[in-house]
Formats: sequence, structure tokens, C-alpha cells
Amino acid sequence: MAKLTWLGHSAFLLEGKDRILFDPFLSGNPVAKAKPSEIKTDMVCVSHGHSDHVGDTVSIAKSNRATVFSIFELGIGFEAQGAKSEPMNIGGSVKARDSRITMVNALHSSDIFENNKLATGGNPAGFIVESGVTVYHAGDTGYFGDMRWIGEFYKPSVALLPIGDRYTMGIKEAAYAASVINATTVIPMHYSTFPLIEQNPTHFQEEIAKLTGGKVKVRIMKVGETIEV
Ligand code: NI
Ligand code: MN
Repeated sequence: MAKLTWLGHSAFLLEGKDRILFDPFLSGNPVAKAKPSEIKTDMVCVSHGHSDHVGDTVSIAKSNRATVFSIFELGIGFEAQGAKSEPMNIGGSVKARDSRITMVNALHSSDIFENNKLATGGNPAGFIVESGVTVYHAGDTGYFGDMRWIGEFYKPSVALLPIGDRYTMGIKEAAYAASVINATTVIPMHYSTFPLIEQNPTHFQEEIAKLTGGKVKVRIMKVGETIEV
């Protein structure tokens, strides 16, 4: 058992055997309520280099002495900014405290625009986190066939999937993804933060019900809400 709090967009705090924060985009996030200084965590998982995912990673990692898990190229950058960093890469796992963090594929881009030029953010990624419960945070991604393998191999009980469309899967793709991943609970993310990714999550619920006959449950969270998973 664990507690899961949605902080808005793709930012979640999982409190299982350890406290694990995902993609902490809080400052400048129009829907987020929590302040970076209020967050207490042991680790931060960053899926890719875009600013709506890196967010407040460095300040939160530093003030909590938390370790950041990210793809190699991003990890070097976090280290250079003074954060404790565990660079890793797709397919690999790291045992961290009482949890296990595995990096999996995501189909997206990851370059960072800063000082008027593009810097590499390495490959985009998703995470499988085992910390009392197994959670799949898909990051920003389109649908890819190995989502079925991720479901079969890691057997996540919770899947956090982007549904915002345009930059990631939309509702139809994400519903299909949910049906092949086959987690007990699916939680939509990366929608309605900005007008360009406005979505009605109840349509996601309806699509999944059609595809799985009610076998896969969708939990629509409110920003700031905490649930047991
Ligand atoms: Ni992105
Ligand atoms: Mn994004």
C-alpha cells in the first residue's frame, strides 16, 4: 500500500516504502497548488528535459537532499547544478533505499532550449517504480508496442498515462495503451494544464470501459488530491 498525490500536470508524489516525486513542475504551473518549498521527498524521478517536467527538480532535490533519477545526459546536468544525481538509462534499474527504480522507453523528444540554443536532454523516458506498490509513470509519450511488454513484465498495479494529445497520446491512444498495460488502476495526467492540452477525462474513462469491459478502472484525480493505491 502507498499514498499517491497528484500535484498537477505530470507531477505526482508517491509515498510508499520511500517518498518518490515525479516531474515536479510546480513554479509557473497554472494548475499546481503546492509550493516547491512544501514538498518533502527522498527521490525525484525526471522523465525528460522539457521544462514542464524538470520544473523545480533542482531546488526540491537540494532542499530535501533527495536523489534525482534521470537519463544520463540530464543527470550530468543536475549534478552540475549541485543536486545529488543518479544518472541511468533505458532498460536499467537502480536499487534506491527500499525502492527500485527502472527506466523504460518513451516516444517523445527531450531537447532543452536555453541561452538561445538547443541543448540535449538525452532520450525521453518513463519509469517503473517499485516501492510497496508498482507504479508506471509513462512520462510524455506516444503509444508504442512495448507498452504491452511493460505491462506483462513489470505488472504495474498503477499506470499514470498522459492524455492531453498534441504533444503526447490523446484519449483514444491512451485508452488503448491502458488496455494493453492492464494495470488495476489508471490515472490520467498531462491534460488541461494549458488550453492546448484541454481534455475531458470522463471521455477517457468511457473509452477504457468500452475497451476493457470495466476490468481496468480509471481514477480521475483532482489536483492536490491524495489517494491510496
Ligand atoms: Ni515533453
Ligand atoms: Mn510535457
